[in-house]
Amino acid sequence: MPSPPASADPTIFIQAHTAPAPVPLRPDIMLWQATEITPIWRATADWLEANGVPPPFWAFPWAGGQAVAKLILDDPSWVAGKRVVDFAAGSGLIAIAAMKAGAVRVTALDIDPFAKAATDLNAAMNEVIVEAVTADMIGRPLPDTDILLAGDVCYERPFAEAALVWFRDLARAGVTVLVGDPGRAYLPSQGLEKVATYQVPTSTELEDRDIRTTDVWRVPA
Ligand SMILES: C[S@@+](CC[C@H](N)C(=O)[O-])C[C@H]1O[C@@H](n2cnc3c(N)ncnc32)[C@H](O)[C@@H]1O
Repeated sequence: MPSPPASADPTIFIQAHTAPAPVPLRPDIMLWQATEITPIWRATADWLEANGVPPPFWAFPWAGGQAVAKLILDDPSWVAGKRVVDFAAGSGLIAIAAMKAGAVRVTALDIDPFAKAATDLNAAMNEVIVEAVTADMIGRPLPDTDILLAGDVCYERPFAEAALVWFRDLARAGVTVLVGDPGRAYLPSQGLEKVATYQVPTSTELEDRDIRTTDVWRVPA
């Protein structure tokens, strides 16, 4: 169990409980991550709740996010010169990759204020500018957006179902929508177009194996 945070301030909490480490599939990107010596993921839900800390999804590069980051860095034409949204950004990994790949602007959206703080810290560490916003935009239009990228959003039924309905609406409105997913339970079994597949190293702190086969899917218009 970690010691109590020195402050409820998310930026101070993140720096106290995580450490900079490379992203396994793209070691050129560094993120503040939970490590064996900063085992916040193992903290009980009670401890996190008592200290006002939501589950630290932002403390790891999830397999879906790693796959999308690799796709757009290997083939920058997906984002170069484009206005990008990293939806459910967590650490901001995809947002950082998009800026490195030549996006003109990236907005990182997440409902968790710790994700905004993590994205701000991670963007600074990787020397890119990302606008991180704490908001639930599901169901709302995304003006001035060319492409929405989402990593690992199909792990809970209500969230996944609402997100996928919204993704289809955005795709119909002309937004390119890509979703990175390692076979989570609530990924739709049909209606998506496979763009790429990667073998993604992950943490056994989070997953039941240390490599996950992870696809990037396009939501058709
Ligand atoms: C498994 S993490 C994935 C993080 C990142 N995309 C990655 O691949 O590393 C899922 C993220 O979804 C965020 N999330 C959950 N509901 C959301 C919503 N309605 N809008 C935006 N983000 C949401 C969580 O806060 C969490 O950061």
